Amino acid sequence: MKIFIKKTYEELSKEAAEIVKKAIQAKPNLVLGLASGGTPQGCYQELSRMHKEEGLDFSQVICFSLDEYLELSFNDPNSYYHFYRENLLNHINIQFRNIHFPDGLVDNPTEFSAEYDKKIKEAGGIDLQLLGIGRDGHLGFNEPGTPLDARTHLAKLTNQTIEDNARFFGKKEYVPKFVITIGPQTIFEVKKILLLASGGNKADAVAKFIEGSITPQITASILQKHPDTIVILDEAAASKLKGKY
Ligand code: F6R
Repeated sequence: MKIFIKKTYEELSKEAAEIVKKAIQAKPNLVLGLASGGTPQGCYQELSRMHKEEGLDFSQVICFSLDEYLELSFNDPNSYYHFYRENLLNHINIQFRNIHFPDGLVDNPTEFSAEYDKKIKEAGGIDLQLLGIGRDGHLGFNEPGTPLDARTHLAKLTNQTIEDNARFFGKKEYVPKFVITIGPQTIFEVKKILLLASGGNKADAVAKFIEGSITPQITASILQKHPDTIVILDEAAASKLKGKY
C-alpha cells in the first residue's frame, strides 16, 4: 500500500481526483468503481469541475457502484443511485448505458449479486475503485465478520453503520438494514484501489487496517495484500498511525 497524508480534506480530494483523471487519460474506457458516502464528495466535485473546465472526457468511461440499499428504488432521494447522479453523474458526459448499479428492488438479491459480479468480469474487471472506510473498518458494506473471500452479496448493516448513515436520512429508523454490496474478494480483484479517509473518527479504523493484522473483523485489512492500493488520508484520519509515511 502506498500511503499519502494531506493536511486537509480539500487537498485529499484534489489529489484523489488527479489520480482518477490520469487513469481516464491513460485509458478513456476506464472501468471505474464508485463509492458513496461523505468522503468522496470532494473528489466528485473536483472531477465535475475537471469535466466542465478542462474537458475531462467521461464519454467512454464505464462505472460500477460499490453498493446499494435494499428496498430503495433508483428514484428514492436516499438511494445511492440518486447520490451518484447528484454528486457526479449529472455533471459529466458519462453515457447512461455505461452506468451499472445494484438494483435495490430486485426480487432475488443472491441471484442478482452473482449476475453483478459476472457483469464486472464481462467489462474486463474494475480498473480503478474508489473506496471510503467505515468506523468499524468496513469496505463497501462488508461489516466485521464478513469472510474475506466473499463476492457481491446481500449484507446486513451493523447498528453503528446505521447510526453513521442516519445523517443522510434524517432519522436512524429510516435507514434500510440491508444492502447489496460488492464483496472483499471482488474488491481485491480490482486492478488499482484508491481509498480515502478523512476525519478523526476514522483514525482507529485507519490504524487497524494499515498496521493491524489481516482479519475479517476489519475487512479493509485485506488491502494489505493488494498489489496496487493507494491510500490518501488527511492528518486527522492518520493521527493514530504509528509508522512514518
Ligand atoms: C459507500 C460505502 C461505505 C463508505 C463508508 C464511509 O459506498 O461502501 O464503505 O465508504 O461507510 O462512509 P463515509 O464516507 O460517509 O464516512
